[in-house]
Parts: sequence; structure tokens; C-alpha cells
Amino acid sequence: MNVAIVGTGYVGLVTGVCLAERGNQVCCVDNNPAIVEKLRGGAVTIYEPGLEEIYQRNLRKGRIEFSPDLPAAVLNAQVVFLCLPTPPGEDGSADLRYVLQVADEIGKILARHPGSGYKVIVDKSTVPVGTSEKVEAAIRRHVTDQADIDVVSNPEFLREGFAVEDFLRPERVVVGSRSERAIVLLKDLYEAFLPPGNPVIVMDEKSAEVTKYAANAFLAMKISYMNDLANFCDAVGADIDKVREGIGSDSRIGNKFLFPGLGYGGSCLPKDVRALLRSAQEADAPLTILQSVDTINQEQRKRFYRKIEKHFKGKLEGLRIAVWGIAFKPNTDDVREAPVFFILDELLRAKASVIVYDPEAMPGAKARYGDRIEYAASSYGALQGGDALVIVTEWNEFRKPDFGLMKTLMRQPVVFDGRNVFDPEKMRERGFVYHSIGRKSHEAHPIKA
Ligand SMILES: NC(=O)c1ccc[n+]([C@@H]2O[C@H](COP(=O)([O-])OP(=O)(O)OC[C@H]3O[C@@H](n4cnc5c(N)ncnc54)[C@H](O)[C@@H]3O)[C@@H](O)[C@H]2O)c1
Repeated sequence: MNVAIVGTGYVGLVTGVCLAERGNQVCCVDNNPAIVEKLRGGAVTIYEPGLEEIYQRNLRKGRIEFSPDLPAAVLNAQVVFLCLPTPPGEDGSADLRYVLQVADEIGKILARHPGSGYKVIVDKSTVPVGTSEKVEAAIRRHVTDQADIDVVSNPEFLREGFAVEDFLRPERVVVGSRSERAIVLLKDLYEAFLPPGNPVIVMDEKSAEVTKYAANAFLAMKISYMNDLANFCDAVGADIDKVREGIGSDSRIGNKFLFPGLGYGGSCLPKDVRALLRSAQEADAPLTILQSVDTINQEQRKRFYRKIEKHFKGKLEGLRIAVWGIAFKPNTDDVREAPVFFILDELLRAKASVIVYDPEAMPGAKARYGDRIEYAASSYGALQGGDALVIVTEWNEFRKPDFGLMKTLMRQPVVFDGRNVFDPEKMRERGFVYHSIGRKSHEAHPIKA
């Protein structure tokens, strides 16, 4: 199938590359010339495990191309995927400007080229309920009602860090459409990806739009619930790890997404929770539970920072603090709404000197802080002369460090673990002062013989 992707960011690039991998002819459009140039030149623009290899293979085989030329891509395609940003507006609602602007351009293109054949415009961006009607109206404004198009809502559920795996083997595909013709076409396109038994779930456009927000808000709710519970465990001397095991083994609850930490970040959960809240308020059907989800999430990083302040009795000036992890989660270079920024801002405000390390996301920190902080070339490099280590992202390479080396490098063996990476008891035995989330903090004592 000839496919156009409009917006070649995290979702668009993964979608384009994976569709090419299954034999489709794909043209990825972006209005950022730097992105198009880099991708044409053979370099991927984002870090995502497994992406580079299939990108290179499909580029070599000529199944994928990158272009700034929207009209050519649209006219040549049977299916046009909109993978455009929907950032939060001032009131929290999703900003539809990019989606509707491209819909308007598509309408103009089709008006200039009547008879260019049946096209399905597929909205993959996360958009508020009712957007597919708006997209269709924006296109049809320029062409007659008879224009041979359908607009479909096809929300994307890929997880950054597992995006390629998720796209190539989705647990489900949601197609929001009432057009049999469009449904058949999309089923045809996705057939090559779905493992046996994993469904294409067909529904109306509005239900599909709500499904995406409902999924992300539910995941955010699990995280905030566990964070709230972890703080309760902190207060009463219980262990959130044990509680997690205890509840996660109940199949009605399940054991995924039950890890307390610094709260969710990234380009999806924070903005999607707020956008759904906003839509619900507008519909006079407020989803009150989500207000707490959002509040707990914002509080969580503050609570964690207070542990650092408390340990140093509010005197951080002149201390050297190492930070492991910038990305909002492991296996991505994405720093959008990353919790680390709150921690770094506070440390700088307290006049601590900060040195950071992340395997992939250093550019995100450099763009924001420039020379206000230091950048280490390795995790151990960040520890030299440090008064404390703060763990913000649970990259695998942080999980089994050489603790002896850490202690020789650091001036004080103090660790604030925002992701509960280590065992508190073992950290105590290793001679660290160790603070984590929802588990008892441990002062160091001499290493046992
Ligand atoms: N990132 C994720 O994990 C994820 C997962 C599921 C859904 N989503 C949703 O998918 C959408 C895209 O997210 P993303 O993370 O890929 O965003 P992104 O910012 O990484 O990518 C968007 C791309 O669109 C391009 N663009 C903007 N305006 C354009 C225009 N007029 N013409 C052509 N290109 C244009 C930008 O240059 C950018 O490269 C959002 O609605 C998001 O909520 C994201």
C-alpha cells in the first residue's frame, strides 16, 4: 500500500519505518527541514531500541522516503496518517492547531486535484473526542461532499522504549470508523502486524478517541495510586515493595505499572490526563478522580526532593550532587515533562553544584541547562567527589553498579533513589546511607564480615 505519514516524530517515524518493514511504500513528511534532511541522510532522529536497524534496511531497499512535500505525499497515498503534535494548551486542553492545519492543507490539495482516488485520513495523534468530525469538516470545506475520503480515528498505544516492538506486534489495534471501506483497508494494513488472537477492535470514531485517553489516564492512575500508597508506607513504616507483591499477585489487579517512583512524565501521560480532565469538564461530566491523579503526580517529585533537603538539613549550598538519569523513563532520549527537571531546578536554586549522566538523553539536559550544570561521560564519572547520588531514571546500566568503586569515588556515600532500584537492606550492608520511596530509609552501618 502507498502510505503517507504526516509528522515524523516519535510516533510518525516508528509508524513509517514499521509499515515499510511490512512491505508498504511509505513517504514520511515533516515540516521541520532538519528532520527531513537528517533522515534522508541516513541518520535516525530519535533513540528507540531496534529502530535504527529497520530504518536502515528499509531506506536501503527504497521502501521509505522522507520529504517536506505534503501535496506529493498525499496525492500518491491511499492512506494518510496524521502523527502530529497535540501539546497542552493553556487550560490543559489538547491544542489541535497542527492537526487541523494539516487537515485544511489536505482539503486544499484534494480540491486542486479532483479525482485523485479514494483516501483514508487516519488520525493517530491523541485528540479529544469529536476531533475526527473536525478533521473531516476541515477537509470537506475545500471539496464537495462527494470527495472520496474517509476520516478514521486510529489511536496509537506504543510505549516509548518499546515502540518498535509494540508497533510490530500490537496487543490490539483500535479502528474508529463507521465506513466499511475504510475499516477493510485498515484491517488489511494491520493484518501483517497482529499476532494470532490479538484483535482489531472496531468502534465509532468518538469511542476510539475516548479509548486512547481512557487507557493513558488509567495507567497514570495506577502510578499515582502507588505513589500515594508509598508515601503512606513511608509514614507508617510499611514496605511498598511487599505491598506491591501482595496486591499484584491478585489477577484482578495485575502486577504491571505498580512501581512507585518520582511520578510519571513524558509527552503523553501528563498532558493526556489534563486534556481528558478538560474534556470531561466541558461535557459537564467531570472525571474527578483524575484531578487527584494529576495532583499526586506533581506532589511526588516535591516530596522526594524534601528527602534530599531533610537529609542535608536544608544546607545544599556548595555540595556536589550527582544525578543518574535525565530521560523521563529508560530506553528513550525523550525528556519532555521529565521529573528530573524539577529536581535539577531545586538543586540549582539551593546552590548545589550538579553533575548529570544519562546514556541517551544528555542533549535534552544540555539544551535546557547549558553550562549551569556539569555533564559526565559515564555514570562513575558523575560520582567523583560527590556528596550524594540521586537516581532519577532506572536505566539497566544503573542497576548493578560496582558499589565499592562508587564509595571510593564519592565523598559521602549517600544515595537518594527515586526509582527503588536497590535493596535498602543490602545498601545498608554496603555502607550507604540510602533513601528510597515507600521503604524505610537506612543509615549506614559497618559492613558485616
Ligand atoms: N510519543 C509517544 O509515545 C506517543 C504515543 C502514542 C500517541 N502519541 C501521540 O502522537 C502524537 C505525536 O506525538 P509524537 O511524540 O510523535 O510528537 P513529536 O513532537 O515527536 O512529532 C511530531 C512531528 O510533527 C511535525 N510537524 C508539526 N507540524 C507539522 C506540519 N504542519 N506538517 C508536517 N509535520 C509537522 C514536527 O516537526 C514533529 O517532527 C501526539 O498527539 C501524541 O500525544 C505519542
